[in-house]
Amino acid sequence: MRAYRAKVVEPIHLPDRDEREANLESAGYNVFNLDAEDVFIDLLTDSGTGTMSDEQWAAMMRGDEAYAGSDSFKRLQESVDDVMGFEKIVPAHQGRGAENVLYGVLISEGDYVPNNTHFDTTRAHIVNNGGKPVDCPIDVDAEDEESFKGNLDPDKVRELADNVGAENIPALVVTITNNSMAGQPVSVENIREARDVADEIDATFVIDACRFAENAYFVQQREDEFSDASVADIAREELSYADAIVMSGKKDALSNIGGFVGVRDESLFEATKQRGILYEGFTTYGGLAGRDLEAMAVGLREAVTESYIEDRVEQVAELGDLLQEAGVPIFAPTGGHAVYVDAEEFLPEIPREEFPGQVLTCELYREGGVRGVELGEFAFPGEDRPQLVRLCLPRRSYFRDHLVHIAESFEKVAERRDELTGLEVVAEPEMEELRHFSAELEPV
Ligand code: F0G
Repeated sequence: MRAYRAKVVEPIHLPDRDEREANLESAGYNVFNLDAEDVFIDLLTDSGTGTMSDEQWAAMMRGDEAYAGSDSFKRLQESVDDVMGFEKIVPAHQGRGAENVLYGVLISEGDYVPNNTHFDTTRAHIVNNGGKPVDCPIDVDAEDEESFKGNLDPDKVRELADNVGAENIPALVVTITNNSMAGQPVSVENIREARDVADEIDATFVIDACRFAENAYFVQQREDEFSDASVADIAREELSYADAIVMSGKKDALSNIGGFVGVRDESLFEATKQRGILYEGFTTYGGLAGRDLEAMAVGLREAVTESYIEDRVEQVAELGDLLQEAGVPIFAPTGGHAVYVDAEEFLPEIPREEFPGQVLTCELYREGGVRGVELGEFAFPGEDRPQLVRLCLPRRSYFRDHLVHIAESFEKVAERRDELTGLEVVAEPEMEELRHFSAELEPV
């Protein structure tokens, strides 16, 4: 049962089929190029797209817009300290701003940075600062029973240190939940192991905490040691092992914009503050309005309330169940923020080079005005990885009827499965890592 009711609503509109086809064509078969008003159900991301609470909106009116020493910043600081256990924070306009601030300080040319799996902006910021990102996930596949498929493999980090020298690994990152691994959670036990490895190789242990509350909920549900603990307590526990956190407020701070770095070490704090001033803004606003700081301060506290987080993660599971009932192959169990569909299994006739995930993404829009995102050969060219389509649920925004519509749209695509053809890229930007945001395609 939803643990909230609607107080402000936004009408949404399903363009008719002809319009949807014309929209797809003019978007170059890339749903990033669609106008949002032409999208009926938008599952592109859970980032900044959720619904804020009445308390958040009320707090925004209190926003202190002072350039320096803003009261709103103090409220954010208190909230981060209470909810996440970090006193020293540097605000940033969003998660990638925070990544640039922290990784710019930690990483030098030629360094290696292991992570359970790098999210794409993390990877890009490590590369941009001269580092080499290395994924060290545990080896699991969709069929395995493992409860924490997002875990880091500490032995892969040790092996990397043996190969490249521990002195060339300034930081070890663990991303919770593991967005690039189908939003799967990481256990507290694994976080403790990561802490140990970081100590062995003398690396700064960073947690990418974007979805720390969702991760804490999974820990409560699946890790015996924590079955009686509150999500709020688990959230503090899982983050307590980190030397630093990078946070996108657009996820588990339930806000439309914002982010921050949290650190413990005084000299790292000084260095991140200076870099923050250079790239983000003065240390008490970080590229944000005071009202945005307020929204995060309240949102963080809401994110770890039991009624909110249970509803949130269970809604994602509900979408997963509906899709499975409709015969759609998904990565199971579902993660915290999204359902990941296996496009190669759903559209076996379309070869990888013709982007089965992108075809499925386009067809979902054609059939139901639903916008998901491809995470396969189109987004990550040449990488040997599963061809997934991510259906991300914005927080507190959609209802069961919407989920049913999504599953029905898949059923309609399945009916036309044999008629579908692949796509080819006809225009792309210079930086291959960012191709999927703006490239254009055409049916082959
Ligand atoms: N780290 C992770 C794990 C993320 O998922 C994201 C964003 C970021 C960092 C960067 O944060 O967007 O505020 O700059 N993920 C979004 C997504 C964009 O759709 O998964 P940001």
